[in-house]
Amino acid sequence: MKIKDFSRYTRSIFAIGLLGMTSQAIATATVEVYKSPTCGCCSKWVDHMRENGFTVNTHDVGNKDIRKKSGISETLGSCHTALVNGYAIEGHVPAADIMRLLQEKPKAVGLSVPDMPHGTPGMEGSRVDPYNVLLIKEPDQSRKDTTIYNRYDPYAKQVEKTEPVATEAEKSSSIMRLKP
Ligand code: CU
Ligand code: CU
Repeated sequence: MKIKDFSRYTRSIFAIGLLGMTSQAIATATVEVYKSPTCGCCSKWVDHMRENGFTVNTHDVGNKDIRKKSGISETLGSCHTALVNGYAIEGHVPAADIMRLLQEKPKAVGLSVPDMPHGTPGMEGSRVDPYNVLLIKEPDQSRKDTTIYNRYDPYAKQVEKTEPVATEAEKSSSIMRLKP
């Protein structure tokens, strides 16, 4: 084997190794979901998690007790609480953010999307609102003390897509003078 081939070989092994670690973190992650038996949006969130490769067990006993026990304050509360790899997940948190959490493994209680914002996984419909995924670093942290882990803003994306608006300076004749 030539040296060049060998380095390519080791690099691909490394890439496969990284991929393996990522899928392994998710494959071994069993999500325990505590919810009310009659909660429709909770079941839809469970489907979203399963579609993203998580193994999910559901416990239809409500989530108030487990939320309190997990160190999630009421100000961060939502309709269901999930436990995965030592983290607590409150509400309609997207699977992608949970995968990121399991890979980055920060010292934290977990993640929360408080209340039930329209447009979150399990809350799909005609209305889509912006929302934050919050990182809870300390037990019983109040909502205002959490850190924004990710932000979903459908309106921000629309702004990005539009052409940049010319500033007054760009519109002024001083720009014109640069042309031959
Ligand atoms: Cu819900
Ligand atoms: Cu729910």
